[in-house]
Amino acid sequence: IKKTEDLPINRYKEMMSTLPREKNWANSIEDFYQYQGFWYMDFILEGVLSVQENFKAKPTDIILASFMKTGTTWLKSMAFAIITRLSFDLSTNTSPLYTKGPHECIPFLEYDKMEKIIEIPLLGTHIPYTSLPKSILDCGCKIVYIWRDPKDVFISLWFFLGKIFMYSNDEPIPLEEAFELFCKGIVTNGPYWDHVLSYWKAKLEFPEKVLFLKYEEMKDDTYFYVKTLAEFMDYPFTIEEEENEVVQKIVNMCSFENMSNLEVNKNGKYHSSASVPIDNNAFFRKGKVGDWENYLTPEMGTVWM
Ligand code: A3P
Repeated sequence: IKKTEDLPINRYKEMMSTLPREKNWANSIEDFYQYQGFWYMDFILEGVLSVQENFKAKPTDIILASFMKTGTTWLKSMAFAIITRLSFDLSTNTSPLYTKGPHECIPFLEYDKMEKIIEIPLLGTHIPYTSLPKSILDCGCKIVYIWRDPKDVFISLWFFLGKIFMYSNDEPIPLEEAFELFCKGIVTNGPYWDHVLSYWKAKLEFPEKVLFLKYEEMKDDTYFYVKTLAEFMDYPFTIEEEENEVVQKIVNMCSFENMSNLEVNKNGKYHSSASVPIDNNAFFRKGKVGDWENYLTPEMGTVWM
C-alpha cells in the first residue's frame, strides 16, 4: 500500500507549495504558480508535472503546440481533417469534426485523459518547449507551433476567461489590470513572448522538426498553409486530390463560419481536467485579425510594436 505522501498528486502539491505565486485574473480563482520560468494554474501545473514524469512519446507523434488563444482550435481542426481525409469522405460530412469538438478530436497532453476518439498521431499542448516531457524531445517528434499578434491574444483571452470565470460566479479583474499582468508575463503559460521564443529557438536548432505558423498569415492564405501543414506532417496532397478540390474542401470545412455554426460547437461541451466542463462555443468568438483595436487604446497598442 502506498503511503499518501508518496502519491504523485501529494508530491506535486508539496513541491508546488514552495514555488513563487502571483494573483490570478479573477479574485476567487487560485493563484498562479511559477515553474521553470512560466506561470500556471494549479490543475494545469499538476498536469504538466505528471506528463513530465510519465508521458512516453512515439517518434511518429506530431505535437500541435500553442499559447492559449493563438488559433489552437483551428490548427487542430485542420490537422485532424488532413490526417483523416482518406477515412471520411469530405463531401458527406461524416468526419468526427461534425459531431465532436476539435479538442475532443485531438486531446491536450496536460489537461485531458488522452482517450483518443480515433487513433491518430496528433496531440495538443500549451506547454512551452523548454518544459515539454523529455521523451518528446528525445524522440524527435515533429512539432507544429502557431502564434498570433499578442494584442489579439490578450483580447481573445480576456473574453474567454470572462466566460470561464462566470462558471464560478466570478468576473475577471478590470481589463487595464489584466493588461498590466499580461505585459508582465503573468498569465496562464506566460510570459507569452518567452513561450513563442522557446519554440522559435527550437525551430532554429531543428528546422526540419518544427513548423512555425502565424494566425494572421493563415487567415490571409489558408489554402497555402493547409498544403504546407499537410506536407510537413508527411500527409501531402496528390495532384489528383488538388484537382478534386480536396484542399479547398478542408479550408471550407475548418473555416470559422463552418466550425462555429456546427451544433456541437454551439451547444456541446469540452470535458478537460478543469473542475467544470467548458462550453465549446467559448473557443469561437470572432475569428478576426486586429479586433484588439476595438478594446485597447492606441497607446496600449504600441506596447508590443
Ligand atoms: P477570437 O477570440 O479573436 O475570435 P484558441 O483556439 O487557441 O483557443 O484560440 C481561439 C481564437 O481562435 C478565437 O479568437 C477564436 O474565435 C479563433 N478561432 C477558433 N476557430 C477558428 C477558425 N476555425 N478559424 C479562425 N479562427 C478561429
